[in-house]
Amino acid sequence: MSENGTHESSVPAALRGCWYPAMRSAELHGHRPATAELLGEMLVVGRDAQKRAFALRDFCPHRGMPLSAGHFDGNTVECCYHGWRFDCRSGQCREIPSLVPGESKLKTERIFANAFPADEADGYVWVYFADPERPADPVPPVPRLWRGQGRSRTVHLWCDLACDVDQGIIGLMDPAHGPFVHQSWWWRKRSSIHVKEKAFEPVPNGFRMSRHTPSANSLPYKLLKSSYGEPSTTIEFVLPNMRFERIEAGKAWVSSRATVTPITADRSRIDVVASWNIFPWLPFVPWIFRKFAVAFLRQDQQTMEKQAVGLARSRRQMLVDDADRQARWYFQLKEAYLEAQRTGQPMKHPIAEPVTLRWRS
Ligand code: FES
Ligand SMILES: [Fe+2]
Repeated sequence: MSENGTHESSVPAALRGCWYPAMRSAELHGHRPATAELLGEMLVVGRDAQKRAFALRDFCPHRGMPLSAGHFDGNTVECCYHGWRFDCRSGQCREIPSLVPGESKLKTERIFANAFPADEADGYVWVYFADPERPADPVPPVPRLWRGQGRSRTVHLWCDLACDVDQGIIGLMDPAHGPFVHQSWWWRKRSSIHVKEKAFEPVPNGFRMSRHTPSANSLPYKLLKSSYGEPSTTIEFVLPNMRFERIEAGKAWVSSRATVTPITADRSRIDVVASWNIFPWLPFVPWIFRKFAVAFLRQDQQTMEKQAVGLARSRRQMLVDDADRQARWYFQLKEAYLEAQRTGQPMKHPIAEPVTLRWRS
């Protein structure tokens, strides 16, 4: 990548050694497993009798029948073709009905369906994709949304994006598209474009827009300020795919996380979870939030669809300073992460010290 120029990423889209949200918890009904596609894998995802999440590759190691076509008894998944049974959490084979007891040398317990570590948090079933080169590395804790004090409400939103995970992520951290893509009476006007200056600092596996007072020209911030006092906000990006935003004004807080999860090489999904303790006496806040956030997401979604038409013609892009600096950091972070995985050395963070960026948006 040149200093201020064309960029073609040679880095594979999806990082390994990371958790990804496979589906919303609300999509699982009782003990009935469901299927999920992510990182190019079809998975069968569910909860066992102890309510623990599990995820198996949707593929029987015998002769490839999707395990989702089989039967789940709360602990084992039985393939619908020849009845092999697999432990839902470890993938270990428990029974091969065609074997004659005492006559077969086949060690059933050495056969495994491909199982992934799975966990539930913040209303998602998360699946961990280990680095295939280091399958024995310890599994880190599942990511969690920060929440402040007091009773809170939570909303989940999502939409499919017609783009690879990289485009989805740099779209999340792209300050320059706001006045063009997200024009609306309650947020931005094209004419409101002005110079912005923000301080950034490195954080483990990512970077943070340091705590600052959000721009005063949008309606939601004006409301927050008049009810709770001057708000301050931080925005953080953390590999592989998470953007956290945290707004605090006195005891009031709003916390959100957006993730972009690769589905296939050219499709991804954006998931947003937002939690807050503001305006608890107003019953329709979640409704309002959802309405505005859906409008926002749809604007991004439609933009990605149009961009996909262009990117099918050529992958060449330009990343220009300072507005695209965060996108460049993202690619640099990814490369540093992969380098650390290759060498087994600690990751060399591409952002050495706090930096101030200036752009117009
Ligand atoms: S294909 Fe699954 S048991 Fe034979
Ligand atoms: Fe956007």
